[in-house]
Amino acid sequence: MYTLLYNIGEIVQISISKEPFKTQSLMRDLHILNNGAIVIKDSEIFDIGFNDEIQTKYANTVFSYKFDVKGNSVVPGLVDAHTHPVFAGDRVHEFAMKLDGKTYMDIHKAGGGIMYSVNCVKNANESTLYESLNQRLNKFLKSGTTLVECKSGYGIDTENEIKMMKVIKRAQDHMKISIVSTYLPAHTIPPGMTENEMANLICDEEIPIVKKMIEQGEINPEQIDVFCEKNIYELESTERILRAGKSIGLEGNFHGEELNCLNSCVMGGNLGVRSISHLEYTSDEDIAAMRDSKVCAVLLPSTQYILHLPIPPVRKMIDEGVIVALGSDFNPNAWCYDMKFIMNLACVNYRMNMPEALVAATLNAAASIGRSHLYGSIEIGKKADLLVLNCANWEHIIYEICDSPISLIFKHGELVH
Ligand code: NIG
Ligand code: FE
Repeated sequence: MYTLLYNIGEIVQISISKEPFKTQSLMRDLHILNNGAIVIKDSEIFDIGFNDEIQTKYANTVFSYKFDVKGNSVVPGLVDAHTHPVFAGDRVHEFAMKLDGKTYMDIHKAGGGIMYSVNCVKNANESTLYESLNQRLNKFLKSGTTLVECKSGYGIDTENEIKMMKVIKRAQDHMKISIVSTYLPAHTIPPGMTENEMANLICDEEIPIVKKMIEQGEINPEQIDVFCEKNIYELESTERILRAGKSIGLEGNFHGEELNCLNSCVMGGNLGVRSISHLEYTSDEDIAAMRDSKVCAVLLPSTQYILHLPIPPVRKMIDEGVIVALGSDFNPNAWCYDMKFIMNLACVNYRMNMPEALVAATLNAAASIGRSHLYGSIEIGKKADLLVLNCANWEHIIYEICDSPISLIFKHGELVH
């Protein structure tokens, strides 16, 4: 089945190299084709070229659908590199506490925060969790995100972690949005346990069970995550858990340098993890380690904004050649799934420019979850995940806050919105 998008003002291809951009100049140098057309065959991008040339070349092709884009622009489907969208309940009461001056760690130490959501997840069954995940991910897709990373992490014990990963697998099997599943066994330490006891339990008992469940096709995680933080999982246990995950084939993708500087990127770089998220307290040594080991730096500007954290050294990361990606970090602490707003925050608060933000929310985000060979740019052979905007200048997707210039969304070549 062939589909044609024609009369496109700007096709923001991002890259034509299939490699994530690594430097500032490359990040600023978006590949844009003016006056173009895109041919889709089934779920993939089959051809891209100037409008006239494509119309002539495909004059005899029978197209099932033709879309006159009328001089407006087309960008790749957005990619969200970091989310926690499986949970029950909400934490609006904690939002009020934060506005009253409580910090994330104050709430955590008082038994709230992640532990509050853990208790809600324990009391929710798989179908309730799936229903709310389904509704949320439909909103992600409608806002322009076509590929998303989803973490477990509110299970804490084996039974509930597996329940969460089953829910994510169900969404992978039934929903249009593409999902990369991440196993997050080490998100907090439940009352009555120590960091060491949890690490032992995860490495010696839980991971072997997870391995079996993966082999049986019941769950489908590709990555392992740890909340590496002072007084939670510190460097040694983080490394142990990441190594245990690696031994069953899971790529490292962890939370680091969010509330304190632990130099976890040096450890992550040595271990060869895929990506590290948050990074508000990243040191120069950490930046060098991420650059040298090609670890993706995943920035989460909504969480930084909500928690009044310091601005991460983003300009330095980009200047040094670190692969910078963006994620929404959608979770009960940071209720934002809209990558358009995340790009706006990255531009205004982190001083990224618009091309950098778009690269970080497409190709680099795809690279951070191991999908840049299929998603994140408009190139022949990649999946046809495309957003048609209602404007000639693509920058409106970042500029318009609380509004959406997206008029059509194609997912794997199919019009879904
Ligand atoms: O990425 N920092 C650790 N984990 C999550 C928060 C999860 C929660 O508070 O429920 C994050 O921000
Ligand atoms: Fe997170």
